[in-house]
Amino acid sequence: MGKNKIVVGCQWGDEGKGKVVDLLAEKADIIARFQGGANAGHTILVGDKKYILHLIPSGIIHPGKICYIGNGVVLDPFGLMEELNLLAKEGVDTEGRLFISSAANLVMPYHKLIDSMQESKRGNDGIGTTLRGIGPAYRDKVGRFGIRVCDLYAPDKLREKLETYRKLRSDIFAGSDDERADVGKIHEDLMKLAPVLKPRTVNVSIELTKHYKAGKSILFEGAQGAMLDVDLGTYPFATSSNTTVGGALTGLGIGPKMFDDVIGVVKAYTTRVGAGPFPTELHDATGEKLRDAGSEFGATTGRPRRTGWLDLVALRHACRINGIEKIAVTKLDILDIMDKIKICVGYNLDGREMNEVPLDLSDLWHVKPVYKEFDGWKSPTTEINDFDSLPDNARKYLGFIADDLQVEICLVSTGARREETILI
Ligand code: IMP
Repeated sequence: MGKNKIVVGCQWGDEGKGKVVDLLAEKADIIARFQGGANAGHTILVGDKKYILHLIPSGIIHPGKICYIGNGVVLDPFGLMEELNLLAKEGVDTEGRLFISSAANLVMPYHKLIDSMQESKRGNDGIGTTLRGIGPAYRDKVGRFGIRVCDLYAPDKLREKLETYRKLRSDIFAGSDDERADVGKIHEDLMKLAPVLKPRTVNVSIELTKHYKAGKSILFEGAQGAMLDVDLGTYPFATSSNTTVGGALTGLGIGPKMFDDVIGVVKAYTTRVGAGPFPTELHDATGEKLRDAGSEFGATTGRPRRTGWLDLVALRHACRINGIEKIAVTKLDILDIMDKIKICVGYNLDGREMNEVPLDLSDLWHVKPVYKEFDGWKSPTTEINDFDSLPDNARKYLGFIADDLQVEICLVSTGARREETILI
């Protein structure tokens, strides 16, 4: 594999990117996150310790690695402080190792309030967001009302911006007694954390370019997945950022030549949290079995995830829009207990065969998956450390996926622990 890698999710998030990034971070010098916010939940298991990180790149767990949060991330400064404190308590020293972009937009407490208000007003048509204020923060960024990290260091100007925002959004703020809408209090709280964040604030584009030119190895860590991309996912049932490779360029201020490898993370079956079309969703005992065996409950919200078979149509889309040539397949072991395993190889819409994801959701809601059925392998894969020792049926399953997507499998994860991995 090349020196500089970008890791992106190929489904609806929760593919197990945290573990893949954690493994690859060992050989990297630098880890950079480029989009999303505290809606992500990257779970890493080291020995008996479980870390769930929402904002800070998972690579921070490795001593000595330098981590960056780019301008494309919407950064909840209070959430960041919590994570920093939590890591400090766990004995993970982040001093001089975690830097944030001065141009990153901040998620304000009022963004979370707006997120909840929007979701409840949408009622049954809600997106099922994580309520972390992500959509409202990105909307303010694009609308140019956003407050950025650099604004924290100009207190008077910051107060003016907050006051202007309050006037602009009088629909939310007028008469609200919710603490999250109290801009005076927000200003006061931000002033407390500004001195802590200041030494960590840098121009990430310049820093990464320096590291790149010095020959350091850089790992780019994506959050969520291709099908949640705001442009190319199942809009409007998507997140508000570009979860695909393009997001890394604008979200860090770098050029495309920095990527030697694009690695797509593919869970061996599919899950989705929140609302929106999910063609291979299982509403039966098999779906329940996948949820239980895979502990499919959100790392950020604890919500039970919707579960279903692997969807190659969605994966073809993910590979094309990201230019993926290598995939890491995760949670293969969850399928160990299955008698039969299905893969969706196409969709059927009113008798018409489709091999690609329709961009019009009104079609995607109605497609029926066309399945190919595989025999299960019914034996544990967790202890296996080389590809050739996997059961025949597991190799057939993986081989079929790789052939269809025309990609190489570079890693297979067979358990949550670092050592439960087959590196190819
Ligand atoms: P938001 O990003 O909180 O606005 O949520 C928009 C949609 O993206 C919802 O369906 C969420 O469940 C989903 N989503 C956001 N972040 C993640 C994630 O890290 N994993 C899985 N789904 C996510």
